[in-house]
Amino acid sequence: MKIKNICCIGAGYVGGPSMAVIALKCPHLQINVVDINPKRIDAWNDKDLSKLPIYEPGLDHIISECRGRNLHFSTDIEANIAKADMIFISVNTPTKTEGYGAGQAIDLKWVDASARKISEFATGETIVIEKSTLPVKTAQTIKEILESASIKQTSNKIFHVLSNPEFLAEGTAMNDLINPDRVLIGGSNQEAIKALTNIYSNWLDKSKIITTNLWSAELSKLIANAFLAQRVSSINSVTAICEATGSSTKDVSLAIGKDKRIGKYFLNPGPGFGGSCFKKDILNLVYICNHYGLYQVSEYWQQIIKINDWQKRRITKLIINKLFGTISGKSIAIFGFSFKANTNDTRESPAISISMELLKEGALLRIYDPKVNYSQIENDLSQVDNKDANQNNKKNWQYCENIYDSTIGTDAIVILTEAQEFKNINWSIISQNMRAPSWVFDTKGLSNTEEAKGFNMNVWTVGEG
Ligand code: NAD
Ligand code: UGA
Repeated sequence: MKIKNICCIGAGYVGGPSMAVIALKCPHLQINVVDINPKRIDAWNDKDLSKLPIYEPGLDHIISECRGRNLHFSTDIEANIAKADMIFISVNTPTKTEGYGAGQAIDLKWVDASARKISEFATGETIVIEKSTLPVKTAQTIKEILESASIKQTSNKIFHVLSNPEFLAEGTAMNDLINPDRVLIGGSNQEAIKALTNIYSNWLDKSKIITTNLWSAELSKLIANAFLAQRVSSINSVTAICEATGSSTKDVSLAIGKDKRIGKYFLNPGPGFGGSCFKKDILNLVYICNHYGLYQVSEYWQQIIKINDWQKRRITKLIINKLFGTISGKSIAIFGFSFKANTNDTRESPAISISMELLKEGALLRIYDPKVNYSQIENDLSQVDNKDANQNNKKNWQYCENIYDSTIGTDAIVILTEAQEFKNINWSIISQNMRAPSWVFDTKGLSNTEEAKGFNMNVWTVGEG
């Protein structure tokens, strides 16, 4: 099958960067990224590259090279589907909030809507690719939607469905896409698999491309995220043991990570994992296990999320205890609001729940993040169940443009991400800004907080007993 035109439905954290890299590496292909959100598309088309809708190091360079050449962003979904030989579905797949399976199952309404559009507007032979992370067996649903509409229209449309899950991590997405550990393609039609393999072969060695059946590809994505999250919860459970026993999680991570069978990655402790995917993908796995009656397996994976929630609460309680059991009226600086460094994404960020808890206890927060803007934080802090706290929030937190300003008059600092700026802090300035006795709570253990002790500041570091 000859591929000339690609359409990607969904111009988000995955659709934008992944299509930018295909455009960069395949100048012979025309790529149209479409979205129902006109604001997002306008931002992708903004001449000022600092206004792209997502921040990802290196993305702006690729956009400036490819945009308008062979990479286009548009809201014209129908026309771009019609001319595409290959369509990626890269829409959001959050956890359902209402109805059957709420709180666990994936809400497939955006995938369903995309499949229906493709079914209606695609022409001729089209390869449809699941790029979104989906419950195992979703390809069957997509096939049925695609084919049922074709039958109705008595057309000669032909569809091949592939699963090609994305493994990029935010903050390192461009490198992850250009130099991935592997690319996974699931499907049954060999011609379609070959067509997609040929695209990746423009910059990747064939040995990096794994092909499986559809169900294994869909499931592997969920399991990969579950395993990664499991490591974070495992090391976070170790932080509590280290703190109780006078050992050091840094030392333990180093010691166990040297064992090749364990490996050194994903052994960094923190305030709990965040991000749009770990929690929702594990919840989905739990839902799938329950669906198949695998209750023990479901409980096993559920525990990963329980430990994650516990770690966030544990740290919040500890902060309150160290500040003499009350933070009412006390001012606390929050360093880092995104779910990790080098992204403006705050979805499921531990900073949201920790900030909310501190606000409920009466603290006044001064929030600084190098990438997240005021309106995003305002939006996140208004998403709380507790209406009273909600009303108070606006008065009780301030957005700070500068790390040092954020510490003026504060009693404590809580470091919540590993942003480069937090690794080499000038504690001399900060100690003068703060009210004594001052505290630094380093939930990542990556800042130069040892130096803060030299300025009579109290320091607590996660996992260090
Ligand atoms: P996102 O919310 O940033 O982007 C999804 C986009 O799809 C939105 O802009 C939305 O407007 C658009 N959309 C929804 N329905 C549409 C429709 N019918 N037609 C056109 N556009 C539509 O989401 P994301 O972070 O890019 O994630 C997308 C998928 O990729 C999810 O399944 C996620 O689990 C998976 N994933 C995400 C990451 C990540 O780092 N964010 C990594 C790997 C996989
Ligand atoms: C994660 C996976 O790493 C990607 O492979 C996957 O494609 C993606 O989810 C997805 O499906 O969305 P991402 O969430 O962007 O990527 O970022 P990670 O680097 O995995 O970090 C997730 C969370 O775990 C962050 O809050 C991070 O701070 C935390 N983490 C990570 C730790 O606390 N310790 C670690 O050692 C590693």
